[in-house]
Amino acid sequence: MKTPIESWDVVVIGAGAAGLMCAIEAARRGRRTLVIDHARAPGEKIRISGGGRCNFTNAGTTPKNFLSANSGFCISALKRYTQQDFIALVRRHGIGFHEKTLGQLFCDGSARQIVDMLLRELNDAGGELRLATSAALPDRVEGGFRLATSAGPLVCASLVVATGGKSIPKMGATGFGYDIAGRFDLKVTPTRPGLVPLTLDPALLERLAPLAGIGLPARATHGKARFDEAILFTHRGLSGPAILQISSYWREGDEIALDLAPGTDVFAALRAARGENGRQAPGSALAALLPRRLAQLAGDTHAAGRNLADLSDKALRQLALAVNEWRFKPAGSEGYRTAEVTLGGVDTADLDQKTMQARAVPGLFFIGEVVDVTGWLGGYNFQWAWSSGWAAGQAA
Ligand code: FDA
Repeated sequence: MKTPIESWDVVVIGAGAAGLMCAIEAARRGRRTLVIDHARAPGEKIRISGGGRCNFTNAGTTPKNFLSANSGFCISALKRYTQQDFIALVRRHGIGFHEKTLGQLFCDGSARQIVDMLLRELNDAGGELRLATSAALPDRVEGGFRLATSAGPLVCASLVVATGGKSIPKMGATGFGYDIAGRFDLKVTPTRPGLVPLTLDPALLERLAPLAGIGLPARATHGKARFDEAILFTHRGLSGPAILQISSYWREGDEIALDLAPGTDVFAALRAARGENGRQAPGSALAALLPRRLAQLAGDTHAAGRNLADLSDKALRQLALAVNEWRFKPAGSEGYRTAEVTLGGVDTADLDQKTMQARAVPGLFFIGEVVDVTGWLGGYNFQWAWSSGWAAGQAA
């Protein structure tokens, strides 16, 4: 006798932030819901996020904090399940949290509390979780989908793809979600690493080598995108929040402008310093505005061997520009190895913005990072995972 194939209302592939949220909501609606994940533990990216404290949302989330080929796509989901909704859930579970900066909310204790909260919610709602379970590409069958998994074949009415992006392959990130989209003829916009440190060419890197380890507040600009946050000089190039943010907008061959003394008119400051003490080295005058090693390097690069009195207004202006508007071309990025997110993904034109369902494939849903919606640094990516997961959970 043939054994009957295990049958579910909803199968979610990926027990990350988006998949768990979706499964909780679907199970709450009485749908028989299974989450599978090839990893041995659920929510691994939640666990390591925010330096182990999980920046689980941003109090000021708006659609403007997201990149996508269709900037309006995220509006509906973000409105239907807001940061306040997630904050209320965190509060209900008695998890202490605090705002670190710029609306970024972190656990007081550990990111593990967010994973535990989601698992408790899933369990209470009656959802099932199966770990260390891999799946082959699904097939369309009458009334739903058939999925071969390492734990045997399954059929389901609704299939939710929550496999995340390609970032950090060492943690099990795969392009599986894009393959599923391709199988059903959905478009995938080009993917690239986002929120990632930028690298510099060897000549520039050698010049900047003495600065490795120095961090300072700066303004990073690329086109219309602008971020006022810290930057960090590293052995490979540049990192820090302002660089990670601008990296999502940067493309190979583009320049980035850095204001290393935001809010300070360095030309005016240097002119005043020249008036007060013209015998100062330019590097010493700049040290009032910048970390000493950086001030020294700027002075040595643009006014070596001269003191302030030797410098004309034009020369001072040039030096000031190197601080207020340092333009450089990154050589590249550190890639998926260290990128926090993947830009691009399943084309939103093929998805319904209210439910995340594929327009041409009823019952197939894509949520979270696998979709072409990418947040800024600061809790926005988890909010997208919660909101898109919740939206699909109402419909799957
Ligand atoms: P996520 O990647 O979380 O989950 C996907 C799941 O699918 C994984 O469990 C994976 O094992 C599983 N999977 C993949 N392929 C599979 C396959 N073939 N078969 C079965 N299962 C499969 N964001 C933020 O808002 N605040 C923060 O503090 C941070 N911090 C942070 C730190 C670091 C180091 C990284 C790398 C990323 C962040 N992020 C972040 C980004 C955030 O982690 C990310 O946007 C979300 O985890 C995306 O949630 P998803 O559920 O879409 O994917």
